[in-house]
Amino acid sequence: MTDASFRPRRSCLYMPASNERALEKAKTLPADTIIFDLEDAVAPDAKDQARSNACAAIYNEEYGSRELVVRVNGMDTPWFEKDMERVCANSPDAVLIPKVQTAKDIYDLAVRMDKDGAKPEVALWVMIEMPLAILNIAEIAALAKHSRLTTFVMGFNDLAKEMRAEQDRLLFTPAMAQTIMAARAYGMNVIDSVYNDFNDPDGLKQECEQARKFGFDGKTLIHPAQIDIANIVFAPSDEKIAEARAIVTAFADPENAGKGVITIDGKMTEILHLRQAEQTIATARAIAAAGQ
Ligand code: COA
Ligand code: MG
Repeated sequence: MTDASFRPRRSCLYMPASNERALEKAKTLPADTIIFDLEDAVAPDAKDQARSNACAAIYNEEYGSRELVVRVNGMDTPWFEKDMERVCANSPDAVLIPKVQTAKDIYDLAVRMDKDGAKPEVALWVMIEMPLAILNIAEIAALAKHSRLTTFVMGFNDLAKEMRAEQDRLLFTPAMAQTIMAARAYGMNVIDSVYNDFNDPDGLKQECEQARKFGFDGKTLIHPAQIDIANIVFAPSDEKIAEARAIVTAFADPENAGKGVITIDGKMTEILHLRQAEQTIATARAIAAAGQ
């Protein structure tokens, strides 16, 4: 993932699109991605207003280089048709669909986005929050090769409810591993679920660190106080960047020309480590370029 289209998604902040104060505040927050929510965070009476606010926000240049995503209501709700018509016609960076379950859902959504006039560059993001989605995850991810599907977003509040499980992250680790494996197998992005207790920075940091170890690109967030922690944890550390530069420099040394494996600081270093190092440097560059 060293291509020029790579962009950081360390911090993906949800906000109810009905909350105009939050929409305003988001213009100044250092989140990589803003997710204007029309679904669970918006009461039924506020759905129309939220949809209008989100559509207006997509065009608002005050959001700068932030990636703008709209989470629409579920496919089986009375708001879905209108959400898709309006949101697709306004072409945000991505449309996020909740509660998908099957590869057919992805196929139908891609057809629907074309019909509703979404420009080709509008990506399809989906929530992975239903048991059936976890069971079908490889088939779902495979469609990324042939459609707008680019990104999985985990939703453990819904998954816990559906599993009748408690909110214990340990229980979700198999689902996390499976989802990341499927996403990476097909070149997709994958973003972790939210941390509900926004007054607990230590707990959030621990969860971000665990998510980074698993391989997630970033975390979905619910409150501005969570942004800085996610931005730090999911960015490559100075130490990691220095290590990556040393690997690139060593492989570029004419003495090592054509070698597949070399020794750096007493450690076996292969071409695959060179590719990882290049990705680390590209990520650091993209973060610097985003200027947040
Ligand atoms: N995005 C942008 N701004 C936000 C925000 C968010 N998610 N959450 C809070 N803010 C703003 C508030 O509007 C307030 O702004 P102000 O300084 O202009 O008054 C400021 O940050 C401080 O907010 P605070 O008083 O601490 O929180 P709150 O009680 O207003 O809101 C929540 C708490 C949980 C209701 C709110 O954070 C929220 O709605 N989060 C998102 C929920 C969501 O989208 N869920 C769906 C996905 S799980
Ligand atoms: Mg959900």
